[in-house]
Amino acid sequence: MGWWRDAVIYQVYVRSFADGDGDGVGDLPGVRQRLPYLADLGVDAVWLTPFYASPQADGGYDVSDYRAVDPRFGHLDDARALVAEAHGLGLRVILDIVPNHTSDQHPWFRRALAGDAAARERYHFRPGRGEGGTLPPNDWESVFGGPAWSPVPGEPGLWYLHLFAPEQPDLDWRHPKVHEEFDSVLRFWLDLGVDGFRIDVAHGMVKAEGLPDIGAGEQARMIGSQELPFFDQDGVHDIHRAWRRLLASYGPDRIAVAEAWAPTPERLALYVRPDECHQAFNFHFLRAGWDTGQLRTVIEESMAAATTVGAPTTWVLSNHDVVRHRTRLGSLARARAATLLMLALPGSVYLYQGEELGLPEVTELPDDVRQDPAFFRTAQGGRAAEGQQGLRDGCRVPMPWTSDGPSLGFGPAAGWLPQPAGWGELSVQAQTGDPLSTLELYRTALRLRRLLPGLGDSAMEWLTAPEGVLALSRPGLVCVLNTGRAPVEMAAPGELLLCSAPEESRDSMEAGAAPGRLRLPAQTCTWWAA
Ligand code: NOJ
Repeated sequence: MGWWRDAVIYQVYVRSFADGDGDGVGDLPGVRQRLPYLADLGVDAVWLTPFYASPQADGGYDVSDYRAVDPRFGHLDDARALVAEAHGLGLRVILDIVPNHTSDQHPWFRRALAGDAAARERYHFRPGRGEGGTLPPNDWESVFGGPAWSPVPGEPGLWYLHLFAPEQPDLDWRHPKVHEEFDSVLRFWLDLGVDGFRIDVAHGMVKAEGLPDIGAGEQARMIGSQELPFFDQDGVHDIHRAWRRLLASYGPDRIAVAEAWAPTPERLALYVRPDECHQAFNFHFLRAGWDTGQLRTVIEESMAAATTVGAPTTWVLSNHDVVRHRTRLGSLARARAATLLMLALPGSVYLYQGEELGLPEVTELPDDVRQDPAFFRTAQGGRAAEGQQGLRDGCRVPMPWTSDGPSLGFGPAAGWLPQPAGWGELSVQAQTGDPLSTLELYRTALRLRRLLPGLGDSAMEWLTAPEGVLALSRPGLVCVLNTGRAPVEMAAPGELLLCSAPEESRDSMEAGAAPGRLRLPAQTCTWWAA
């Protein structure tokens, strides 16, 4: 069985994980120092967000040199050492590759702006509409708000396409040089030893022929739920097939995971056909509300769709683009319960740094420290990007490692975003060894997940459950989630292994219940040995 099919993969947002050199920005030496923490947490792999040379117009998703480490984050030797050390600890390493767009400072785009016709063919340059071409070539909107086109400086009437910020011009994947370049970049990092790639905007590289108008507003709200001429076009699958062949030439263990926003689980499943990506993020799960009906539907649909192509399902609750799930779901109790549900499901799980500490979204950041382009574009365009609310800095605040210190152990100096008061109590140091802490809950759950054979990639059955409760059976495990605001009385499904409510025990659940039964506390998920 491929290692990724049931892997727990931990997302390191490099800028905010650990700062080795004291410039306030996380870096590769910082990640290296913290690898033992990740191994001890019990994850199988680490996904590192982009650390390539970049002007940082979008937190590194604007790459100016795909083969270089940005000096802010270290040197190529740090990347090499990080991969070797991670492997020594039994951790695999996945890099983030950004093929939909480059930075506007990438040599290709600089040449294109300077008038080089051959370089222009690698992007989408088009004449504008209206008299003198003063209007954008079509009605597409940037995911970050505002038009998806910017005028070419010094050439009135000419525009270029950027589905994200103006500093992120979209590549034209019809051009063979674009394919060649990315093949070479993938090989560069595979030769260095990485175990695979998270493909940024894996659904966006191919645009509908002729770049047709959409004809309706609110495009940001349509992403991931409706067809759009710039996302999820059939042509992207040819690229994923070619990359799968390239990965396979390095052996069976190098993987690709697609960041793909597809309108339905069925469309998403196309990205994980046997000759395409190994995994795709399942954002449908992340979007489900705290509701047994919605959760059950999304779990069933995701598993059914993945099964049609023989792929594993993936599950994710938080990442660097969405409001942290503790805040999104409304409480730490719900966040802990949702995590235990996720870790009991078949397939692979993605964790986002800091969720193991129960970190909340930081909602009170002053505007002058914010860096997310979505924030600025939203302020200008007056519209928030779907699911991100135009406020992605709040989930990117540097990790608290120690109870005190200038940036709570993130580094020797203050971090690039301020940590809120009280975060020392949420630090790794404060939570380690406290059996009631969220960190120890994650450690225990991950340990149990490894101990229960076949939990990751095998059958799952729903069990009958009272209203507001989801109960499912896995090999050796029954998982019961009570989403309700009141305890629910039920028969014990087995021996209690783990409960998301810190102070609950089998005894406390039996107290007040009828003989032979127990009261499953409100907003709680439990694991039972079966
Ligand atoms: C998805 C990444 O996760 C996000 O952070 C980035 O802004 C966009 N892709 C554009 O690269």
